[in-house]
Amino acid sequence: MTQETVRIGIIGGGLMGREVASAFGRWFVLNQFPVKAELTAVCDLSEPAREWFRQVPTVRLLTADHRELLASPEVDVVYVAVPHHLHQAIYLDVLAAGKDLLAEKPFGIDLAAARTIAEAAERSGRFVRCSSEFPFLPGAQRAYHLARGGTFGTLLEIRSGFHHSSDLDPQKPVNWKRQTATCGAVGVMGDLGIHAVHVPFRLGYQPRSVFAQLQKVYGTRPDGRGGMAVCDTWDNALLHTETVVDGVAVPLRFETKRLAPGETNTWFLEVLGTDGGVKYSTKEPKTLWTFTRGKEQLWQRTDLGFHGPFPTITGGIFEPGFPDCLMQMWAAFLAERAGKLGDQFGCVTPAEAVRSHELFAAALQSHDEQRAIALG
Ligand SMILES: NC(=O)c1ccc[n+]([C@@H]2O[C@H](COP(=O)([O-])OP(=O)(O)OC[C@H]3O[C@@H](n4cnc5c(N)ncnc54)[C@H](O)[C@@H]3O)[C@@H](O)[C@H]2O)c1
Repeated sequence: MTQETVRIGIIGGGLMGREVASAFGRWFVLNQFPVKAELTAVCDLSEPAREWFRQVPTVRLLTADHRELLASPEVDVVYVAVPHHLHQAIYLDVLAAGKDLLAEKPFGIDLAAARTIAEAAERSGRFVRCSSEFPFLPGAQRAYHLARGGTFGTLLEIRSGFHHSSDLDPQKPVNWKRQTATCGAVGVMGDLGIHAVHVPFRLGYQPRSVFAQLQKVYGTRPDGRGGMAVCDTWDNALLHTETVVDGVAVPLRFETKRLAPGETNTWFLEVLGTDGGVKYSTKEPKTLWTFTRGKEQLWQRTDLGFHGPFPTITGGIFEPGFPDCLMQMWAAFLAERAGKLGDQFGCVTPAEAVRSHELFAAALQSHDEQRAIALG
């Protein structure tokens, strides 16, 4: 099989930049995949961050200036993983340079930024998507396809969320994700919200109203230099929304939490109806729970294997994890860019990212005014 090589540049070589490089480093895991991903250039302001990438043999350019990376003819696609206040400026620079973009969430620091980026993407004609990898886990895919199958009867309730616990430790030093100026006024919703809305939006579960409960617990944190710093972002957000499925109003709850006791990185989705239902959580990464109503109330547990959307050489009985769904997401991005996604599940579109920001902006308003806000 002939494989087209796509040359990728990374802007922001921190936590996510390195994780993405590791996915390209074992790209041969994908079986018979039509596109080869090759990391050619990396930009980061920090020298130690740049130096880490010297061990990647395909990297030919290391720079502290993202414009130098964007000027390189050896970059076709750019992945940007920088703090949220830099999204708009750098994403627009990527598009102006004529490159395709896999943007990190939340796709701009606020709704205005997300709209500006989406409009620029549309005008540019470039291929642009936003990162959200958990739906590419086999269990999440199974849940998505079951919910889409329409066999659950009248839907009763939908719950989708992402829980973290690391911020429970008050001694954890502050970082850019904990301050409004760099993370955004939406706080935890900007950090975790796109992960929660991706599948429900794709299933057509569009919120028509939202009532938000937002919590901030620790107002200051160690600044890492012996003092204390302001920590002013929302820690937990419960968005009680309503959607309409087959003409029936259904409660749809989005949960994003940095203060969830016991949860290191738990993404989950539940869709419950009168005749059937499904639950999947990364807490039990290879377990799919399905409900069928019969003579008895039956929740059935299925032990899943390694069957992601794109075939791999990994044994079918092995367990998948974060690096695997990240690679599958990149496969979906590059397949769709090449016109080869078919009817497979795709990455978050700019329009979906804008809709997520509309929801988060309405949630902030709901919290301020202590009432439900209608969404267009
Ligand atoms: N998809 C996911 O699961 C996931 C997980 C974590 C973070 N994220 C997102 O990824 C993005 C980055 O988060 P992170 O956790 O990797 O952050 P990080 O702080 O670990 O890394 C950010 C990097 O960007 C660099 N940087 C800052 N300004 C820059 C500039 N002007 N030019 C080049 N480099 C610059 C920093 O030096 C740092 O190395 C954010 O949008 C975040 O929301 C996504």
